[in-house]
Amino acid sequence: MEKLPQLFDLTGRVAVVTGGAGLLGGEFCRTLMGAGAYTVIADIDEAAAKDTAASLNELQFNKRVRSKETSQRALGIQTDISSKESVQQMVAKTLSVHNRLDILVNGAALDPKFDHQRETNLEEDEQAHRLVDPLSINFEDYPLDLWNQALEVNLTGMFLCCQAAGKQMVEQGRGVIINVSSIYGLVGPDQRIYQKQGEPPQYKPAHYSVTKAGVVGLTSYLATYYAGKGIRVNALTPGGVYNDHDDTFLEAYSARSVMGRMAEKNEMNGALLFLASDASSYMTGGNLVVDGGWTAW
Ligand SMILES: NC(=O)c1ccc[n+]([C@@H]2O[C@H](COP(=O)([O-])OP(=O)(O)OC[C@H]3O[C@@H](n4cnc5c(N)ncnc54)[C@H](O)[C@@H]3O)[C@@H](O)[C@H]2O)c1
Repeated sequence: MEKLPQLFDLTGRVAVVTGGAGLLGGEFCRTLMGAGAYTVIADIDEAAAKDTAASLNELQFNKRVRSKETSQRALGIQTDISSKESVQQMVAKTLSVHNRLDILVNGAALDPKFDHQRETNLEEDEQAHRLVDPLSINFEDYPLDLWNQALEVNLTGMFLCCQAAGKQMVEQGRGVIINVSSIYGLVGPDQRIYQKQGEPPQYKPAHYSVTKAGVVGLTSYLATYYAGKGIRVNALTPGGVYNDHDDTFLEAYSARSVMGRMAEKNEMNGALLFLASDASSYMTGGNLVVDGGWTAW
């Protein structure tokens, strides 16, 4: 019988993480590298992808890894997942460097957030006299172009990445795909938690729920499509992750959560490693829900 650490060992495996420069993406890359994998940070934000790779390469993960290798273990590649050409180029570059692709983490998404970054963006928008905040638009008036844009990234982008990585994984006869969904792909948002007294109503948009539900559908589809091909496909469904949200939101969210709080950004790492490694060797077509009990009420 294998030893426990071997179940989670990813030594020498190659992982592409889309949205790898984001809040959870960076955590995912650090976790995969900590288990011995090479990572590719595929993100539309080129500077952030390169910066993330540079800071990951600074970390000392494993004394067994030769220092010459350490500096190349993370690679940042600018990628727009909604473009077939861009995705194909990213996979081609990954293969030219590593010759294989073992793990695809589909983390990139347009996720309209209510955190401090949004406050900053809104202030900048106001100064630039831009249009209304999309989160303040009710369902009936929601602009078609914003709906289409979200579908293109969150669903079509994931489809394109699965196609390009799947081709290589079929050739290898082995691979793991992890698609990141959300609690809002399973249940509707409780719009009450986004309201602030004395301010106009705000809404988590419909496209987020619809695309995240679609992620679960794509996961089931691919799990069965790849039956017998050595490729496992699972979804990871996080609950809300704390990122310097204001106290009003934090309180409202926490009151609605079974665990009474938001997740810390590193609290998805165990689930991610489980799904990426042989520890989950009998799991495909599943959805690992890490939501502090949000969907259990
Ligand atoms: N943070 C949360 O509370 C939370 C909760 C549930 C689910 N999720 C899901 O987890 C995943 C990661 O969330 P996060 O909080 O790290 O998001 P984030 O916004 O911090 O990161 C998303 C990353 O995706 C990149 N990206 C956007 N469009 C892209 C494109 N077209 N091509 C390539 N990259 C693109 C962005 O540049 C960014 O680095 C998302 O799928 C999100 O829906 C997040």
